[in-house]
Parts: sequence; structure tokens; C-alpha cells
Amino acid sequence: MKHTVLLLGSGGRECALAWKLSQSANLEKLYIAPGNGGTDRYGENVALSPLDFEAIKKFVVSHGVTMVLVGNEDPLVAGIYDYFADDAVLAKVPVIGPSKAGAQLEGSKDFAKGFMERHGIPTARYLSVDATTVENGKAFLRTLSAPYVLKADGLAAGKGVLIVPTLDEADRVLDEMLGGMFGSSSSRVVIEEFLSGIECSVFVLTDGTSYKVLPVAKDYKRIGEGDTGLNTGGMGAVSPVSFADEEFMAKVDSRIIRPTLDGLRRENITYRGFIFLGLINVGGEPMVIEYNVRMGDPETEVVMLRLNADLVDLLEGVATGTLADRAMAIDPRYAVTVMLVSGGYPGSYEKGKLISGLAEPTRSIVFHAGTRRTDEGIVTAGGRVLAVSSYGDDKASALATSFDTISHIAFDGAYHRRDIGFDLK
Ligand code: AMP
Ligand code: GLY
Repeated sequence: MKHTVLLLGSGGRECALAWKLSQSANLEKLYIAPGNGGTDRYGENVALSPLDFEAIKKFVVSHGVTMVLVGNEDPLVAGIYDYFADDAVLAKVPVIGPSKAGAQLEGSKDFAKGFMERHGIPTARYLSVDATTVENGKAFLRTLSAPYVLKADGLAAGKGVLIVPTLDEADRVLDEMLGGMFGSSSSRVVIEEFLSGIECSVFVLTDGTSYKVLPVAKDYKRIGEGDTGLNTGGMGAVSPVSFADEEFMAKVDSRIIRPTLDGLRRENITYRGFIFLGLINVGGEPMVIEYNVRMGDPETEVVMLRLNADLVDLLEGVATGTLADRAMAIDPRYAVTVMLVSGGYPGSYEKGKLISGLAEPTRSIVFHAGTRRTDEGIVTAGGRVLAVSSYGDDKASALATSFDTISHIAFDGAYHRRDIGFDLK
């Protein structure tokens, strides 16, 4: 069946999803809400907030939308899946993403840790505390060795994890978090053992029964080269990941993916969508750092490059419980994305800078993240501006293509890292 798809979100991830959806033989029409200055090359932007469910309902009904793909976590944690499922008119329109209960895997770190404990999924030792049990938290900190990991339970725009070097500081940060450092998101705090290793992102698409594992990726979060400086939303990504070989992925499958899906079923949690496993390789053994209930950004920008499948067909398989029958292969080429960001990011930065060079022919696929279309042209509209994504036979050639493309693009204050993938073979 041909689908009219509504994609929710406005970042580089959504631009990459829109690019892939637009290539589908099963796409009738694509809307992106709200989208950005680049998503409108692949579909029609509509000025709707992903959190305004009433407005989304009106749009879905009036425009004959047959499928909703949720890019970011907020609408999922707020219950968009259940809002559709419980509505007489909307119930026939599938939402790709978990139910509100399933979204707790990302929406509550306390829930996620409890879930992993219940299902024997390898993860760091932890204790979850609130204002009434803060002394237990301080006692637990004394059973760990430095550094100390403290996580706000709820969503905190990616800023809710603090890693502190000393016990004194851990005690103080714990008090501050419980005192409202992240508002109500940190009224509960998960204290964790620090795990040492290299991280990767594994993406699983499931219809609740069967599943497919998408290309493995690794993102680079720090602003500076060599992974130094402040955390950002992501400065680049690569796929594949050399250490995520067959042996490692077999462990991920048997110890993490299958127990996660079995656990969801046993707890009667409806989950039809993407599961993002943030993993760490501890001496060859995969452990879960976190779950997310959506695709990663900027990982999606490389994963979509390597996904040889009709994405609408895959998503229809998710919605109808027939994912096992849908074809999917992985492109053997290497893919990288290098993020061009605004000067000053992740601190304060200016917006509205005119971007030149976007019309030049390029061998890269330039996904827009924080951009806006104006009468003067495309201008910057966020910290992360463009995700310059390229294929190559190896990492070096893929990176060289992205750098060549970047050399033709300019805006006032543009910055990018030149070492994406530096820690991998
Ligand atoms: P999260 O928001 O859960 O992804 O955490 C942000 C980052 O903190 C992760 O990507 C890891 O680099 C780091 N992190 C979180 N938990 C741990 C842990 N238990 N041990 C070491 N690093 C961690
Ligand atoms: N790249 C990490 C994330 O999307 O959360």
C-alpha cells in the first residue's frame, strides 16, 4: 500500500529519515512537522509542534495521513502512541514508536535500570534515590570507586548525566540534583558504577515480535578533537564500528536484544518502533549504558546511508507485525557524517547566518540540522547546522569526501571536527 507519512521532528536525524523515506516506492506523500530548511527537499514542511497532539490529530485527519513516524523522544514519552491508539478516529493510523509505557525506557533511567535488573541485562551497578533516601545514596557512593556517575531520572535534554571525580563532589552534586538542578527530572537520581570502555550505538527495529538490527554506528559527542571539551548533541558519526564484529554482535543479540524484547513482552509493554541501545564494550563484553526509544542523532545520518531497504515498507512491516517478511540489507561501504556547527556552540552562539555553497554539486549528502529557509537563502537556526555525510571504501576516503564538501560551504563562525572516527580502525 502507498502511504502518506507524517514525520515528527526538525533535526539532522529527521532530514536523514526524510531523505530515505522520499526514495521509497511505497510513499504517496511525505509531511515533516515542523522540519527545517533542508527537509522540504524531500517532502512538505508543516508548522506543527510534535507535542501538540490535538493539532496533529486535525492534520492527520484532514490530510489523509496513514502513518506517523516519531523522530524525537518527547512526543513518545508524552504518550503520542497511546493518544492515537485510544482515539476512535486515529486508531487505524499507526504510530511508529513505543507506547508511553515503553517510552519509559528512555523517559525514566530508574525504570530502565529496574527493567534491566528484572531481565538480567548487563549494565552498571546502581542505586536509585530521592530526597528521602539521600543518605542511602551517599552510603552507596562509598561502595564505588571514582569517578562517580549521577543521572537525573527524567528527560533533561541530554544534559542530565554528570560524571564527577571525587566523593566530596559526588555528595554535593547529589544534593544539588535532588534539590532541583534539572527541575523535576532530577527529583530522583540514579547513581551508577563508572564503566570503562569504548561506546557504540546499536539500533533495533521491532514489530513487537520479530526484529532487525540496523547498521552499528558510533557518535562523537565532545566539541573538541580527541574527544575533549564540552558535550554537544553530537559532532559526527561513523558506521560500521570496527570492534562491533560478529562475535561482539552475537553477544549483543543473545544478552541484550533478545532479553529486552522478551522483557517488554513479559511486562505487556507495547513496542513497535526503534530501540536505540547505547552500549559500552568492557573488555569485549557489551553492557548497556542507556536505552533510547528513537533513532540517534547524528547516527541516523550514517545509518540511513547504509540501509538498503525501502523504509516505508519496513515501517509498514513494523505497524502490521510482518517485519520478518520485509527485505533489508546493509550497504558494505563506510559512511561518515561530519557536523558543521555554529561558532560558540555548545555555549551561546548566534543564529541567522547566511550559508553559502549549498547549491554546489557534491559527492556528499548534506543533511540539514539547524537551518531555516528565508527569502535571502538558507540561514543557520541552531547549534548543529549541517550533517555532511559521505560514503567511502574506507573511513579515510569517506572523511575526505565530507571535508571536500565542507570546503565549499561557508557561514560566519562555522566549525567542525576533523577527527571523526579517530579511535576506530
Ligand atoms: P546518557 O545520557 O545515559 O547517554 O549518558 C551520557 C554519557 O555519559 C554516555 O554516553 C557515556 O559516555 C557516559 N556514561 C553514562 N553512564 C556511564 C557509566 N555508567 N559509566 C561510564 N560512562 C557513562
Ligand atoms: N547520539 C546520541 C543520541 O541521539 O542520543
